[in-house]
Amino acid sequence: MSETLNTLEQTALESLQAVDSNDALLAWQGKYFGTKRSKGELDAALSALGTLPPAERPSFGKRANEVKQKLLAALDTRKEQIKQLELAKELQSGAVDVTLPGRPIRRGRLHPSTQALRRITRIFGQMGFEAYQSREVETDELNFELLNMPAEHPARDMWDTFYTTTPGVILRTHTSPGQIHAMRERGENGTKPIRVILPGMVYRYEQVTARSEMQFNQVEGIAVGRGITLADLKGVFVEFARHMFGADGQIRFRCSYFPFTEPSVEIDVWLGTATERARVLTKGTGWLEIGGAGMVHPQVLKNGGYDPAEWSGFAFGLGPERQAMRLYGINDIRYFWQNDLRFLEQF
Ligand code: DAH
Repeated sequence: MSETLNTLEQTALESLQAVDSNDALLAWQGKYFGTKRSKGELDAALSALGTLPPAERPSFGKRANEVKQKLLAALDTRKEQIKQLELAKELQSGAVDVTLPGRPIRRGRLHPSTQALRRITRIFGQMGFEAYQSREVETDELNFELLNMPAEHPARDMWDTFYTTTPGVILRTHTSPGQIHAMRERGENGTKPIRVILPGMVYRYEQVTARSEMQFNQVEGIAVGRGITLADLKGVFVEFARHMFGADGQIRFRCSYFPFTEPSVEIDVWLGTATERARVLTKGTGWLEIGGAGMVHPQVLKNGGYDPAEWSGFAFGLGPERQAMRLYGINDIRYFWQNDLRFLEQF
């Protein structure tokens, strides 16, 4: 009877040596140890135990167990060998060329406008200006009327407007309506000073060209308090220019006109004429225009809830894309919203 076990052991071990793949190994295992569906040869041999005379049973059982342990050990060894074999095969076939350089992971980054906005927001934040969001869909009242431009006011022509199908509701043409929101919501009925900036997107019904887009960002700013003068505005921009442009902080005001400020100015920063780039950016003058500003018009203060006899303030509006264009020599504003990675990846 133990002859059967000996033969089984021998054939099993021999055939195991011929096994050279994972699939073949599984088949071998199934053959001798059984699968879910079929009995293995080892179990089949063991079932003969019952037919043996009782005296032979212990030695048969012992032998059967030995064979089982031996086959299991051989299976383990072969499994490991095949693993190595398959790995070697894979390496040889070139499926994995470990000498190839890795593929770089594409990293996302902030849009140049976002970068400029954050930089501006940070600089004003250090001067105590709180950043404030206001809506992009605005009323005609806030965008124009409360900023001292009643219907038919000729200054409205400065802003080509997108109207909506709802009468009196438009896309804001500038961030200036945020001044009214900020005064009304933060000024506590004209009793508290405010210092706020309002970054965000504005919309204009314009022909899109290299120089003008129908959407772009602005950063509005407003400070209202007791005894605020034009000198405060100037001081703030001396400081701003130093941080933004790294220059020695020279700025100048040029007379201008906006209906919501009196007096109104445009602000230039001194970049100088020493380098070719500075000359190009400033068209040879050395001065770079960065935005409009002025003392908040008494009527606008009133519309924000303040008594202009007691309170005064300054306001300004900056264009981050324009500044970015000048600073980085971008000659076409349309690049900003085209989502062309070749452009975006440069920042
Ligand atoms: N809102 C103006 C524009 O879009 C810019 C501006 C000028 C804003 C003067 C101001 C300001 O707050 O005081 O052209």
